[in-house]
Amino acid sequence: MNYQQTFDSTVRDPAAFWLDQARGLDWFVPPRTGLSTDAQGVSRWFADGVLNTAHLALDVHVTAGNGERTALIYDSPVTGARASYSYRALRDAVALCSGMLRDLGVGKGDRVLLYMPMIPEAVIAMLACARLGAVHCVVFGGFAAHELAVRIDDCAPKVVLSASCGIEVDRVIPYQPILSQALKAARHRPERCVILQRPQCAAPLHHPRDLDWHEQLAAARPADCVPVAATDPLYILYTSGTTGKPKGIVRDNGGHAVAMGYSMATIYNMAPGEVFWAASDVGWVVGHSYIVYGPLISGCTTVLYEGKPVRTPDAGAFWRVVAEYGVKALFAAPTAFRAIRKEDPEASLAARHDLSSLQYLFLAGERLDPPTYQWLAAHLGRPVLDHWWQTETGWAIAANPIGIEAFATRPGSATLPVPGFDVHILDDNGAPLGPHQKGNICVKLPLPPGCLATVWNNHPRYEAGYMARFPGYYLTGDGGYRDEDGYLFVMGRTDDVINVAGHRLSTGEMEEVVAAHPAVAECVVIGIADGLRGQVPLALAVLKDGMVMEETALEAEVVLMVREQVGALACLRQVLMVRRLPKTRSGKILRAILRKLADGEGFEVPSTIDDPTVLDEIRGDFARRGIGPGA
Ligand code: COA
Ligand code: AMP
Repeated sequence: MNYQQTFDSTVRDPAAFWLDQARGLDWFVPPRTGLSTDAQGVSRWFADGVLNTAHLALDVHVTAGNGERTALIYDSPVTGARASYSYRALRDAVALCSGMLRDLGVGKGDRVLLYMPMIPEAVIAMLACARLGAVHCVVFGGFAAHELAVRIDDCAPKVVLSASCGIEVDRVIPYQPILSQALKAARHRPERCVILQRPQCAAPLHHPRDLDWHEQLAAARPADCVPVAATDPLYILYTSGTTGKPKGIVRDNGGHAVAMGYSMATIYNMAPGEVFWAASDVGWVVGHSYIVYGPLISGCTTVLYEGKPVRTPDAGAFWRVVAEYGVKALFAAPTAFRAIRKEDPEASLAARHDLSSLQYLFLAGERLDPPTYQWLAAHLGRPVLDHWWQTETGWAIAANPIGIEAFATRPGSATLPVPGFDVHILDDNGAPLGPHQKGNICVKLPLPPGCLATVWNNHPRYEAGYMARFPGYYLTGDGGYRDEDGYLFVMGRTDDVINVAGHRLSTGEMEEVVAAHPAVAECVVIGIADGLRGQVPLALAVLKDGMVMEETALEAEVVLMVREQVGALACLRQVLMVRRLPKTRSGKILRAILRKLADGEGFEVPSTIDDPTVLDEIRGDFARRGIGPGA
């Protein structure tokens, strides 16, 4: 079947199509039901199937005689460490880690929170949870204590797994103070914290709560795979929404496994034994899907890289890894290549490495700007494949389906909807839009396997945030259009989510922090264009009446507050003191206008604005600080 035939069959009879795909997996009880509706009215996949995701990722390959094939390569330029695990070795390490968790009372359905750097034990722990039927919740190591505490309270983990430190280029970041602060702030008390002591930093353990990872592991016995229902949760992964409170996206086991296997073949064109490298972090969805589950379920070799695209030690780092391990497909965020390009504009470092294994470059996580696309295409001479997806979907909504049929790429476009995602562009009233008309990108229900089943602890938020706006459609939160050939162009978020260096962040979250500054009466945080990171946040604050303060002092204090409460990854570095904010007559802050003003985009002054003269004041403030075209 070609792409169109495949796509059509997913729309015509999704249950039959996906049941067919599911047959390729080694289920304990193969599903006979494709689609059904759960008690909350959500469409669920393979409800009568029974499986174990870690079994599919590891044991299956060992049983099939591929135990000596390399499953995981760990490369850490920040420590100089390298390691390689065969499928058998990884399976054994995971089984032992499962045994350790089981000894701590972790069983099916229990949550285990991971706050870990990019080390093999992070991957092992995720799979160890899956082996027990426990639900992992990985929190990106760059998040600060407050963010960690919010997630601890929401998912209520029985056990927390962490390490003594992360390493940012040449800086050791001790995790224990962050974890301790988070546990102090959280209402929920995990029973145990198991801490992996890294050679770079020894964490003080607080007995009896904290346990030493190596000691626990030494006393553990391997655990077997626990059968779970396809609809049982595999993991919770928090992502930013429009409010300050992150959403716990819940992914099930069965649909996810099918989606991972299908996507590795159709989107990434990967076969067993080939080397796939997603240069992301296990704390993000890309890491979950394409560092851990996708490559392993497909019998590939995956690369776990603890470093940056630049400075570890230089802008040739990615090319070294590709050459050293024979990477066939490299997946990274555009911002990583903007960083490389800035330091090595002629890609001369790429020429120093043997990149003959590299067949494809996959880009996602943020918009692939045409200059970065052109630079990559020109200097690497390989297909540069943009694809668009979200934490919620777990795999690509739009891509170039090269495993089925390769299409010519168009700069700025993620190419075509992936079979299973019936993409429609709707106007604000839900009416369908034609070619080149910009609107809300939506997916007609049912969503294919692998997409979110609910929001943890908050099903109403799932309904309100994704399903209520256009009944019968999933609202992606992104805006864009399709051209006359159906190519999809994603223009950016239609809500208050921003994307900083491929990291999805909520301006609402940052606004809560800025508003908590004692001198601030009201504030707004917007995302503005940035040449390296795609977007960076900018705060505008109005002081309380009678409050006197220098802008530089306010800025320094607010920047520190955001670093301490959200994390350095937010990159909030500019705070502008303004006299007032542009608002509608009903008091709503005109965020979109502010963003357009900062980015130098044209806009019409809305008739609902309370006082248009405030825009001139803000324009002046932006010019004063070198923001926007008036600078
Ligand atoms: N733990 C602790 N701190 C972290 C962190 C982590 N895991 N990740 C980032 N940070 C900190 C950084 O140290 C930096 O702190 P600083 O302000 O004190 O210097 C800050 O957060 C910003 O980090 P980053 O955006 O990584 O800045 P950078 O200058 O170190 O690197 C890039 C810039 C573009 C090279 C980098 O952002 C990058 O590689 N981006 C790709 C991101 C990516 O792969 N995203 C996944 C989506 S698929
Ligand atoms: P996350 O949930 O962190 O993966 O972020 C998802 C968001 O990142 C999407 O909703 C988009 O706004 C943005 N995004 C991801 N990939 C792309 C892409 N290829 N093009 C444009 N935006 C993207």
